[in-house]
Amino acid sequence: MTDSPRKIIIDTDPGQDDAVAILLALGSPEDVEVLGVTAVAGNVPLALTERNARIICELAGRTDILVFAGCDRPLTRKLVTAEYVHGKTGLDGPQLADPTMPLQEQHGVDFIIDTLRHEPPNTVTLCPLGPLTNIATALQRAPDIIDRIEQIVLMGGAYFEVGNVTPAAEFNIYVDPQAADIVFKSGIPIVVMPLDVTHKALTTEERVQAFRDMGTEPGRMVAEWTDFFERFDMHKYGSNGAPLHDPCVIAYLIRPELFQGRQINVEIETQSELTMGMTVADWWGVTDRPANAMFMGDVDADGLFALLSERIARL
Ligand code: BDR
Ligand code: CA
Repeated sequence: MTDSPRKIIIDTDPGQDDAVAILLALGSPEDVEVLGVTAVAGNVPLALTERNARIICELAGRTDILVFAGCDRPLTRKLVTAEYVHGKTGLDGPQLADPTMPLQEQHGVDFIIDTLRHEPPNTVTLCPLGPLTNIATALQRAPDIIDRIEQIVLMGGAYFEVGNVTPAAEFNIYVDPQAADIVFKSGIPIVVMPLDVTHKALTTEERVQAFRDMGTEPGRMVAEWTDFFERFDMHKYGSNGAPLHDPCVIAYLIRPELFQGRQINVEIETQSELTMGMTVADWWGVTDRPANAMFMGDVDADGLFALLSERIARL
Protein backbone atom coordinates (compact mmCIF):
# COMPACT_ATOMS: atom_id res chain seq x y z
CA MET A 1 0.00 0.00 0.00
CA THR A 2 1.65 3.24 -1.08
CA ASP A 3 0.69 6.79 -0.11
CA SER A 4 -1.28 8.75 -2.67
CA PRO A 5 0.83 11.11 -4.82
CA ARG A 6 1.64 14.50 -3.40
CA LYS A 7 -0.28 17.34 -5.07
CA ILE A 8 2.03 20.02 -6.41
CA ILE A 9 1.98 23.26 -8.38
CA ILE A 10 5.19 23.88 -10.33
CA ASP A 11 6.02 27.58 -10.60
CA THR A 12 8.70 27.99 -13.22
CA ASP A 13 10.70 30.08 -15.71
CA PRO A 14 11.91 27.45 -18.23
CA GLY A 15 14.99 27.28 -18.67
CA GLN A 16 16.55 23.94 -19.63
CA ASP A 17 16.98 22.82 -16.01
CA ASP A 18 13.37 23.78 -15.25
CA ALA A 19 12.41 21.59 -18.21
CA VAL A 20 14.22 18.58 -16.75
CA ALA A 21 12.48 19.20 -13.42
CA ILE A 22 9.05 19.26 -15.09
CA LEU A 23 9.85 16.06 -17.02
CA LEU A 24 10.92 14.38 -13.77
CA ALA A 25 7.58 15.31 -12.19
CA LEU A 26 5.56 14.14 -15.19
CA GLY A 27 7.49 10.87 -15.22
CA SER A 28 6.65 10.25 -11.57
CA PRO A 29 2.84 10.04 -11.33
CA GLU A 30 2.99 7.64 -8.39
CA ASP A 31 4.86 10.28 -6.35
CA VAL A 32 3.55 13.64 -7.54
CA GLU A 33 0.33 14.87 -9.09
CA VAL A 34 0.92 18.10 -11.04
CA LEU A 35 -2.20 20.22 -10.46
CA GLY A 36 -0.85 22.94 -12.73
CA VAL A 37 2.21 24.74 -14.01
CA THR A 38 2.45 28.50 -13.48
CA ALA A 39 4.98 30.45 -15.52
CA VAL A 40 6.85 33.49 -14.25
CA ALA A 41 9.30 35.93 -15.81
CA GLY A 42 12.89 34.99 -15.01
CA ASN A 43 15.41 33.26 -17.24
CA VAL A 44 13.55 34.83 -20.18
CA PRO A 45 10.42 37.06 -20.37
CA LEU A 46 7.00 35.63 -19.50
CA ALA A 47 5.85 35.24 -23.13
CA LEU A 48 8.66 32.72 -23.58
CA THR A 49 8.47 30.96 -20.20
CA GLU A 50 4.75 30.17 -20.58
CA ARG A 51 5.38 28.98 -24.15
CA ASN A 52 8.31 26.85 -23.01
CA ALA A 53 6.22 25.33 -20.21
CA ARG A 54 3.70 24.16 -22.83
CA ILE A 55 6.44 22.79 -25.10
CA ILE A 56 7.76 20.71 -22.18
CA CYS A 57 4.34 19.30 -21.25
CA GLU A 58 3.74 18.37 -24.89
CA LEU A 59 7.12 16.69 -25.08
CA ALA A 60 6.01 14.52 -22.16
CA GLY A 61 2.74 13.75 -23.99
CA ARG A 62 0.81 15.61 -21.29
CA THR A 63 -1.33 18.12 -23.15
CA ASP A 64 -3.83 17.76 -20.29
CA ILE A 65 -1.59 19.69 -17.87
CA LEU A 66 -2.95 23.14 -17.06
CA VAL A 67 -0.39 25.84 -17.89
CA PHE A 68 -0.90 29.42 -16.73
CA ALA A 69 0.95 32.69 -17.26
CA GLY A 70 1.71 34.53 -14.04
CA CYS A 71 3.60 37.74 -13.31
CA ASP A 72 5.62 39.35 -16.07
CA ARG A 73 7.95 41.32 -13.80
CA PRO A 74 9.31 41.35 -10.24
CA LEU A 75 7.34 43.07 -7.45
CA THR A 76 9.37 46.29 -7.48
CA ARG A 77 12.61 45.81 -9.39
CA LYS A 78 13.30 45.77 -13.11
CA LEU A 79 13.34 42.29 -14.64
CA VAL A 80 16.78 40.74 -15.07
CA THR A 81 16.94 37.79 -17.49
CA ALA A 82 19.59 35.16 -18.27
CA GLU A 83 19.68 34.61 -22.04
CA TYR A 84 23.46 34.43 -21.71
CA VAL A 85 22.96 31.05 -19.99
CA HIS A 86 19.78 29.65 -21.52
CA GLY A 87 19.85 31.21 -25.00
CA LYS A 88 17.41 33.57 -26.67
CA THR A 89 14.36 31.30 -26.26
CA GLY A 90 15.25 30.01 -22.78
CA LEU A 91 15.26 26.47 -24.20
CA ASP A 92 18.01 26.85 -26.78
CA GLY A 93 19.71 23.68 -27.95
CA PRO A 94 17.45 21.31 -29.92
CA GLN A 95 15.03 22.42 -32.62
CA LEU A 96 11.59 22.82 -30.99
CA ALA A 97 8.18 23.05 -32.63
CA ASP A 98 5.64 25.64 -31.50
CA PRO A 99 3.31 24.32 -28.79
CA THR A 100 -0.23 23.45 -29.80
CA MET A 101 -1.79 22.99 -26.36
CA PRO A 102 -3.55 26.10 -25.06
CA LEU A 103 -2.47 28.51 -22.38
CA GLN A 104 -5.16 28.76 -19.67
CA GLU A 105 -6.97 32.08 -19.53
CA GLN A 106 -6.80 32.43 -15.76
CA HIS A 107 -3.82 34.31 -14.31
CA GLY A 108 -1.28 31.98 -12.66
CA VAL A 109 -1.55 33.78 -9.32
CA ASP A 110 -5.35 33.33 -9.29
CA PHE A 111 -4.90 29.65 -10.07
CA ILE A 112 -2.54 29.26 -7.10
CA ILE A 113 -5.00 31.05 -4.80
CA ASP A 114 -8.10 29.17 -6.04
CA THR A 115 -6.38 25.79 -5.86
CA LEU A 116 -5.22 26.33 -2.30
CA ARG A 117 -8.69 27.50 -1.27
CA HIS A 118 -10.43 24.51 -2.85
CA GLU A 119 -8.09 21.63 -2.03
CA PRO A 120 -8.17 20.34 1.57
CA PRO A 121 -5.78 22.31 3.85
CA ASN A 122 -2.14 21.21 3.88
CA THR A 123 -2.42 18.94 0.87
CA VAL A 124 -0.77 21.14 -1.78
CA THR A 125 2.99 21.76 -2.07
CA LEU A 126 4.34 24.68 -4.09
CA CYS A 127 7.50 24.05 -6.13
CA PRO A 128 9.06 27.33 -7.26
CA LEU A 129 11.89 26.90 -9.78
CA GLY A 130 12.31 30.59 -10.65
CA PRO A 131 11.93 34.03 -9.06
CA LEU A 132 9.31 34.00 -6.28
CA THR A 133 7.08 36.72 -7.76
CA ASN A 134 3.98 34.58 -8.36
CA ILE A 135 4.17 32.97 -4.93
CA ALA A 136 4.67 36.25 -3.04
CA THR A 137 1.88 37.91 -5.01
CA ALA A 138 -0.47 35.08 -4.09
CA LEU A 139 0.48 35.34 -0.38
CA GLN A 140 0.00 39.10 -0.41
CA ARG A 141 -3.30 38.98 -2.23
CA ALA A 142 -4.77 36.07 -0.26
CA PRO A 143 -3.15 35.74 3.17
CA ASP A 144 -5.79 33.10 4.03
CA ILE A 145 -3.89 30.58 1.86
CA ILE A 146 -0.75 30.78 4.03
CA ASP A 147 -2.06 28.24 6.53
CA ARG A 148 -3.29 25.95 3.77
CA ILE A 149 0.07 25.35 2.03
CA GLU A 150 1.63 22.02 2.96
CA GLN A 151 5.17 23.07 2.09
CA ILE A 152 7.20 25.21 -0.31
CA VAL A 153 10.15 23.36 -1.84
CA LEU A 154 12.18 25.85 -3.87
CA MET A 155 15.39 26.25 -5.81
CA GLY A 156 17.19 29.42 -4.84
CA GLY A 157 19.88 31.02 -2.76
CA ALA A 158 23.29 29.87 -1.60
CA TYR A 159 25.49 30.01 1.48
CA PHE A 160 28.89 28.38 0.89
CA GLU A 161 28.68 28.92 -2.87
CA VAL A 162 27.55 32.54 -2.34
CA GLY A 163 26.37 33.83 -5.74
CA ASN A 164 26.10 33.00 -9.43
CA VAL A 165 24.56 36.18 -10.87
CA THR A 166 26.36 38.62 -8.58
CA PRO A 167 29.22 37.76 -6.21
CA ALA A 168 26.64 37.65 -3.39
CA ALA A 169 23.37 36.39 -4.88
CA GLU A 170 21.83 33.44 -6.67
CA PHE A 171 19.73 34.26 -9.76
CA ASN A 172 16.20 33.30 -8.61
CA ILE A 173 16.47 35.28 -5.37
CA TYR A 174 18.34 38.18 -6.98
CA VAL A 175 15.67 38.73 -9.64
CA ASP A 176 12.97 39.33 -7.03
CA PRO A 177 14.44 39.76 -3.53
CA GLN A 178 11.29 41.49 -2.24
CA ALA A 179 9.24 38.44 -3.22
CA ALA A 180 11.76 36.09 -1.62
CA ASP A 181 11.65 38.16 1.56
CA ILE A 182 7.85 37.77 1.75
CA VAL A 183 8.09 34.01 1.23
CA PHE A 184 10.87 33.46 3.79
CA LYS A 185 8.98 35.55 6.37
CA SER A 186 5.64 33.80 5.74
CA GLY A 187 5.96 31.05 8.36
CA ILE A 188 5.17 28.39 5.73
CA PRO A 189 7.39 25.26 6.01
CA ILE A 190 10.14 25.84 3.43
CA VAL A 191 12.76 23.52 1.95
CA VAL A 192 15.56 25.27 0.03
CA MET A 193 17.76 23.77 -2.68
CA PRO A 194 20.57 26.33 -2.84
CA LEU A 195 23.64 26.40 -5.11
CA ASP A 196 25.44 24.54 -2.30
CA VAL A 197 23.44 21.49 -3.38
CA THR A 198 22.91 22.11 -7.08
CA HIS A 199 26.60 22.74 -7.78
CA LYS A 200 27.11 19.10 -6.79
CA ALA A 201 24.49 17.89 -9.30
CA LEU A 202 26.77 18.03 -12.33
CA THR A 203 25.93 16.81 -15.83
CA THR A 204 28.99 14.68 -16.49
CA GLU A 205 29.49 13.12 -19.93
CA GLU A 206 28.39 9.72 -18.64
CA ARG A 207 25.20 11.10 -17.11
CA VAL A 208 24.27 12.97 -20.29
CA GLN A 209 25.01 9.87 -22.36
CA ALA A 210 22.48 7.98 -20.22
CA PHE A 211 19.79 10.43 -21.39
CA ARG A 212 20.91 10.10 -25.02
CA ASP A 213 20.92 6.30 -24.77
CA MET A 214 17.21 6.23 -23.85
CA GLY A 215 16.46 6.51 -27.56
CA THR A 216 13.33 8.56 -26.80
CA GLU A 217 12.44 12.12 -27.76
CA PRO A 218 12.49 13.42 -24.14
CA GLY A 219 15.85 11.67 -23.57
CA ARG A 220 17.34 13.26 -26.67
CA MET A 221 15.98 16.71 -25.74
CA VAL A 222 17.41 16.52 -22.22
CA ALA A 223 20.83 15.54 -23.64
CA GLU A 224 20.74 18.39 -26.18
CA TRP A 225 19.56 20.98 -23.65
CA THR A 226 22.31 19.89 -21.32
CA ASP A 227 24.90 20.12 -24.08
CA PHE A 228 23.77 23.68 -24.73
CA PHE A 229 23.90 25.22 -21.27
CA GLU A 230 26.92 23.18 -20.17
CA ARG A 231 29.15 25.27 -22.41
CA PHE A 232 28.51 28.40 -20.39
CA ASP A 233 28.75 26.84 -16.94
CA MET A 234 31.77 24.65 -17.64
CA HIS A 235 33.64 27.69 -18.85
CA LYS A 236 32.49 29.73 -15.86
CA TYR A 237 33.25 27.18 -13.13
CA GLY A 238 35.94 25.13 -14.84
CA SER A 239 33.93 22.06 -13.79
CA ASN A 240 33.30 18.71 -15.42
CA GLY A 241 29.67 19.33 -16.38
CA ALA A 242 27.12 21.98 -15.43
CA PRO A 243 24.81 22.12 -12.40
CA LEU A 244 21.32 20.80 -13.00
CA HIS A 245 19.62 23.04 -10.45
CA ASP A 246 15.83 22.76 -10.59
CA PRO A 247 15.35 18.96 -10.74
CA CYS A 248 16.63 18.85 -7.14
CA VAL A 249 13.27 20.29 -6.02
CA ILE A 250 11.21 17.51 -7.59
CA ALA A 251 13.75 14.83 -6.64
CA TYR A 252 13.37 15.89 -3.00
CA LEU A 253 9.63 15.15 -3.15
CA ILE A 254 10.31 11.70 -4.54
CA ARG A 255 13.48 10.69 -2.65
CA PRO A 256 14.07 13.09 0.27
CA GLU A 257 16.81 10.78 1.58
CA LEU A 258 19.07 11.89 -1.31
CA PHE A 259 19.49 15.29 0.39
CA GLN A 260 20.95 16.52 3.64
CA GLY A 261 20.54 19.90 5.28
CA ARG A 262 19.86 21.91 8.40
CA GLN A 263 16.78 23.61 9.78
CA ILE A 264 18.08 27.19 10.09
CA ASN A 265 17.24 30.88 9.85
CA VAL A 266 17.47 32.40 6.37
CA GLU A 267 16.97 36.12 5.74
CA ILE A 268 16.99 37.89 2.39
CA GLU A 269 19.05 41.01 1.72
CA THR A 270 16.71 43.65 0.24
CA GLN A 271 18.53 46.89 1.09
CA SER A 272 22.15 46.90 -0.05
CA GLU A 273 22.68 47.02 -3.83
CA LEU A 274 26.08 45.38 -3.34
CA THR A 275 24.66 42.24 -1.75
CA MET A 276 21.05 42.48 -3.05
CA GLY A 277 19.26 39.11 -2.97
CA MET A 278 21.83 37.40 -0.78
CA THR A 279 20.41 34.55 1.30
CA VAL A 280 21.91 35.24 4.73
CA ALA A 281 21.79 31.68 6.05
CA ASP A 282 22.65 31.07 9.71
CA TRP A 283 24.25 27.69 8.93
CA TRP A 284 26.44 27.77 12.05
CA GLY A 285 23.67 28.93 14.39
CA VAL A 286 25.47 32.11 15.41
CA THR A 287 22.28 34.14 15.92
CA ASP A 288 19.17 33.47 17.95
CA ARG A 289 16.96 34.22 14.96
CA PRO A 290 14.30 31.50 14.70
CA ALA A 291 14.71 28.76 12.07
CA ASN A 292 12.41 29.33 9.09
CA ALA A 293 13.76 26.91 6.46
CA MET A 294 15.30 23.51 5.85
CA PHE A 295 18.40 24.64 3.99
CA MET A 296 19.99 21.78 2.08
CA GLY A 297 23.75 21.36 1.85
CA ASP A 298 24.42 18.03 0.21
CA VAL A 299 23.03 15.62 -2.37
CA ASP A 300 23.78 12.07 -3.44
CA ALA A 301 24.41 13.11 -7.06
CA ASP A 302 24.63 9.56 -8.43
CA GLY A 303 21.29 8.77 -6.79
CA LEU A 304 19.78 11.94 -8.24
CA PHE A 305 20.89 11.15 -11.80
CA ALA A 306 19.80 7.51 -11.47
CA LEU A 307 16.34 8.77 -10.50
CA LEU A 308 16.28 11.22 -13.42
CA SER A 309 17.25 8.50 -15.88
CA GLU A 310 14.69 6.05 -14.52
CA ARG A 311 11.78 8.52 -14.58
CA ILE A 312 12.53 10.38 -17.82
CA ALA A 313 12.98 7.06 -19.66
CA ARG A 314 9.30 6.37 -18.96
CA LEU A 315 8.09 9.36 -20.97
C1 BDR B 1 18.49 29.10 -11.17
O1 BDR B 1 18.49 30.16 -12.11
C2 BDR B 1 18.06 29.71 -13.38
O2 BDR B 1 18.95 30.13 -14.35
C3 BDR B 1 17.93 28.21 -13.29
O3 BDR B 1 16.82 27.77 -14.04
C4 BDR B 1 17.76 27.94 -11.82
O4 BDR B 1 16.40 27.97 -11.43
C5 BDR B 1 19.91 28.80 -10.76
O5 BDR B 1 20.51 29.92 -10.17
CA1 CA C 1 14.59 28.03 -13.08
